[in-house]
Amino acid sequence: MKPIKYFLAEDTIDNQDIDALISWLKSYPRLTKGPLTPEFEAKWNAWLGRKYSVFNNSGSSANLLMYDALLLSGELKNKKVIVPSVGWVTTIAPAIQLGFEPIMCEADPDTFGLDLVHLEKLLIEHEPSTVVMVQVLGVPHKMDELMALKKKYGFFLLEDACAAMGASYKGKHVGTFGDMSSFSLYFGHQISTIEGGIVSTDNKKFNDLLLMLRSHGWGKDLDKETHQALIDKYGVDNFHAPFVFYEPGFNLRSTDLNAFLGIRQVDKMEWLIERRKANHDLYKSIFNGRFQIQKYGEMDTICSIHFGLLARDGEERRKIVSVLEENGVETRIFSAGNLGLHPFWINRYGKASFPMADRIHYTGLFLPNHPSMKPEDVEFIAKIVLGAVGS
Ligand SMILES: Cc1ncc(COP(=O)(O)O)c(C=O)c1O
Repeated sequence: MKPIKYFLAEDTIDNQDIDALISWLKSYPRLTKGPLTPEFEAKWNAWLGRKYSVFNNSGSSANLLMYDALLLSGELKNKKVIVPSVGWVTTIAPAIQLGFEPIMCEADPDTFGLDLVHLEKLLIEHEPSTVVMVQVLGVPHKMDELMALKKKYGFFLLEDACAAMGASYKGKHVGTFGDMSSFSLYFGHQISTIEGGIVSTDNKKFNDLLLMLRSHGWGKDLDKETHQALIDKYGVDNFHAPFVFYEPGFNLRSTDLNAFLGIRQVDKMEWLIERRKANHDLYKSIFNGRFQIQKYGEMDTICSIHFGLLARDGEERRKIVSVLEENGVETRIFSAGNLGLHPFWINRYGKASFPMADRIHYTGLFLPNHPSMKPEDVEFIAKIVLGAVGS
């Protein structure tokens, strides 16, 4: 294999960000979670259009926090949860870790999110309290239809938008549909804080639980009145107050160093969205229907972190992958393929095989898309892919 010339992802933290970070460090600030964390959270709320956000140390932690806050809210009628076949292991892992009963749903042939026909069947059969969805790779799912099912069947929706920040469905940002929504700020995602995650919600009860669960279960990150109400409820004296634990929490905090980077990254969102969308649209127009790719509506904004495509079959994928490797273009499977074919799932529940999710598993692959790519980079990669399949 040749050395890689075109990486699947590049860092969105640039030299100016590093220089600014160095200057900030030279002011010898407090490095743990401090004032920059709520500043970043408020800036993210304003950009996204939600009331509350909790910055934490990864998208996976954000998912864990969402599940646990939901569980501890006392609002679940049962612990059944529908989970997607296409997403990430940590979209599902908290369900297993926290004793939910996960039921896997087929992937939609258009957006690769939850298949709505299968979802409705599962809703009728299992009457779950919760549905977890993934906004797959910056392409919004069919949210009108999904929200209509939510209304009809009355489930809580956890929206994993970890790889979809910046995308919009009919002008509404992804990450504003779920009762709680998660984002990842890991390297290569739409924006990065090195490692990082956010949970956003409009529900104060969930937000209060998220704040406590992020930090051990203590109350001192809550707003003053909410913390005071707990102090009064449990008759806590002032000396004990900072170290009374109201929930069995975790420590999933990030730091002000990461928040410093996050504050600067939000300023780049519009530019990043434009660049990622332009690259995605260019791939799409060059391929001109030759490969199955995720579909989106004219009123949607996509913000992909890689360009995903499905080859005709495994043999065609092998040909494409070998040409990419010969030309120094990094590639990989489509997300995790079908999560129902991974040992973590099979060992507990048996194989979960579905036509569409399996197709993504056995024929899907990623091509590079990041803001620093130029149109000629996209054209070069798209052309060698077409050359590999004789088009
Ligand atoms: C859909 C989805 N959920 C969750 C995660 C986990 O995010 P993190 O790597 O920040 O833990 C990822 C990571 O790529 C993802 O794609």
